[in-house]
Amino acid sequence: MKINKDGFHLFAGLKSKFLMLLLGSLIMAGKAYSQSTPQLGKAPIKEVIGAMTLQEKAKIVVGMGMDLPPIPPDADVPDFLKNRKKDPDAEKYPLKVKGAAGHTHPIPRLGIPSIVVSDGPAGLRIDPIRNKGSSKTYHATAFPVETLLASSWDTSLVREVGEAYGREVHAYGVDILLAPALNIHRNPLGGRNFEYYSEDPLVAGEMTAAMVNGVESNGVGTSIKHFVANNQETNRNNINTIVSERAMREIYLKGFEIAVKNAQPWTVMSSYNKLNGTYTSQRHDLLTTILRDEWNLNGFVMTDWFGGDDAVAQMKAGNDLIMPGSVKKMDAIVNAVQSGKLDEKVLDRNVGRILNIILKSPSFNGYDYTNNPDLKRDAEVARKAAAQGMVLLKNDGDALPLDNVQNIAAFGNTSYNIILGGTGSGDVNEAYSVELTQGLQDAGYHLDADLQQSYTRYIKKAKGNRPKPQGLFARPEPIDEMTISADLASEKAHTNDVAIITIGRNAGEGSDRTLKGDYYLTDKEQQMIQTVSEAFHDAGKKVIVVMNIGGVTDVARWRDEVDAILLAWQPGQEAGHAITDVLSGKVNPSGKLATTIPMKYSDIPSSKYFPGTPEKNPQKVVYKEGIYNGYRYYDTFDVKPAYEFGYGLSYTTFSFDHMKLSSRAFNGPMKVTVDVTNNGNVPGKEVAQLYLSAPAKSMDKPAQELRGFAKTRLLKPGETQTVTFTVRDSDLASYDTKSSSWKADAGTYTVKVGASSRDIRQTGTFELKSSEVVERDHDVLKPESNIMEMKP
Ligand code: BGC
Repeated sequence: MKINKDGFHLFAGLKSKFLMLLLGSLIMAGKAYSQSTPQLGKAPIKEVIGAMTLQEKAKIVVGMGMDLPPIPPDADVPDFLKNRKKDPDAEKYPLKVKGAAGHTHPIPRLGIPSIVVSDGPAGLRIDPIRNKGSSKTYHATAFPVETLLASSWDTSLVREVGEAYGREVHAYGVDILLAPALNIHRNPLGGRNFEYYSEDPLVAGEMTAAMVNGVESNGVGTSIKHFVANNQETNRNNINTIVSERAMREIYLKGFEIAVKNAQPWTVMSSYNKLNGTYTSQRHDLLTTILRDEWNLNGFVMTDWFGGDDAVAQMKAGNDLIMPGSVKKMDAIVNAVQSGKLDEKVLDRNVGRILNIILKSPSFNGYDYTNNPDLKRDAEVARKAAAQGMVLLKNDGDALPLDNVQNIAAFGNTSYNIILGGTGSGDVNEAYSVELTQGLQDAGYHLDADLQQSYTRYIKKAKGNRPKPQGLFARPEPIDEMTISADLASEKAHTNDVAIITIGRNAGEGSDRTLKGDYYLTDKEQQMIQTVSEAFHDAGKKVIVVMNIGGVTDVARWRDEVDAILLAWQPGQEAGHAITDVLSGKVNPSGKLATTIPMKYSDIPSSKYFPGTPEKNPQKVVYKEGIYNGYRYYDTFDVKPAYEFGYGLSYTTFSFDHMKLSSRAFNGPMKVTVDVTNNGNVPGKEVAQLYLSAPAKSMDKPAQELRGFAKTRLLKPGETQTVTFTVRDSDLASYDTKSSSWKADAGTYTVKVGASSRDIRQTGTFELKSSEVVERDHDVLKPESNIMEMKP
């Protein structure tokens, strides 16, 4: 058949009509389909849940598992890690961000995407390489660790770090960052202390709120962790932590309360440990009564990875999402509903909370992520923050800043092998790191080349000889210091202007630190400090120690031998530059300790009870020190620390004057103002700290407690800034266990403002006429037995 032009058109016309009809009916069918199948974001969440099968609900509350390296059959890991059933969805929907910690199940027919969650507190933890051979990399910025950030006492700085951090989370297609972490520094041996802020809940809570607000300003979420009383790594998955209600409320919960109330994080991560006999992820009182009923958390709660032992109890408690998830847990939930052990309404409630957050996520909103964050810009933030959080502990004879110094003799392995941050999930895959030597050289100093060469050779050889780290969380063995002979030290003292000795420590997830050779210096380190100090002092030269550490390490045994000590913490990838900024005086140090450095380990209130009993394989840890953690203990029990909470030197000095209280009788929030003046010759910042001493009538009280802090702007010599604090009813109150309420006793309160907890410059008093109940809470968290807490 021949078809002429018109005929062809006719045919074409018919064909296009037919196509139109077909399309129309398809659209109609689509409409009917979407009308009967509610879509997330279009239909109310209730309807979406109503359209779910029980299996789909279980998928929403249980993650899609985790890509783990193959686990050898004889590996010392729990059985569930070895005998895992494959989740078919995980193969169908692979993790879109390689190296992320986990993801949730998508349910495409309901318009529910999978969301991606990733660690961790010092920078986004993802794999830097996806395809071997490809030049495209996925590095993230290693920011300074949280302990350093807290030592800045600067919430706007921490917010700025959070903003930079969140930009990377967003750019790499991650929906929720598994950070910040805010467990309390209870004992310096805690392996993850670098991931946490402080021994004090106000500092921890304020820093967390600032970080959450910064990260979340990018439209991504956070997970504040680990809720709660997770203060050690020894037997971390099963340890039974016994804490009194008062210590829980005042110390261990307080920071989380501040963070939830001030920042409403998208999510909270429950911890691994048991609290008073029950896993935290299975405690209704923690996750529902406290977190939601008392504090109004809007987001959802997820478990820590593989945490707890009963998926159904977790659902009931209000632990909405189980991570990383397994088929077994989904089955357990489905079976529990079918057998009547779990009310489906509880499951719906948890599903609803997760969907609410998914609605806000970049994945739901179809964000076309760039995989191309501005790492250069963020590195500048990292460098600035790092310098702001370093603490100058000692500076005799103005050894620092390095004036009239050209030639530097750098001792200690860490001078040539800087530690950016801790290990485990808190580790970051950064693009580069700046060694201290590089930082010094970039600033124009001349390093002793001969020393540099011997150290580099020595370290290379030692690294080649050390055994490969074994196990999931193993950290590389530290390298013993070289022996520094008196002759070598003396030769270097004559050819250099100053000695810098770096002491390094690393720790992380999976184990706590040891006392010998970790908290205390090794014999080799001690000998190096002694030999170098003697030689340099004989030659009339100064010795500076840089402490590149993640957690408190002894200083008392050796500090008298050296002239200056800079506590640089673990400063992130710009380490060498940031340390040099402070050593050179480009940045005037303004960090202060957010955690006490004691004279000796046995002075620490938890030292006798850490990490629990029995000694060989601790199953239980009792917080007998109660509320007397950190400075609350040292100040109340009159124990002199090496460097107290809030302490830190500057290259200038400040005075505090004209403290004013808005009234002498307390009735509602009270304003306290103080003038802080820079009295020295160089610009600097000061941290004004407000401590309150309350009358101890109805119960014992710490000698004083931090109730406010404010960092000044950079003050020029002679410049004054008036800082303002607000003292609220809640600041006067302590937790009364008998009545489950926060009570303020009548009497005289002393307000102290100063430069540290033991450097109080202004005091004043006010009266509270009659005792007040400031807040009533629920009667929950009772420990199973009497703790016999220490009392002043
Ligand atoms: C850690 C968490 C982390 C999670 C996911 C756990 O081992 O305790 O802090 O977020 O792993 O990597």
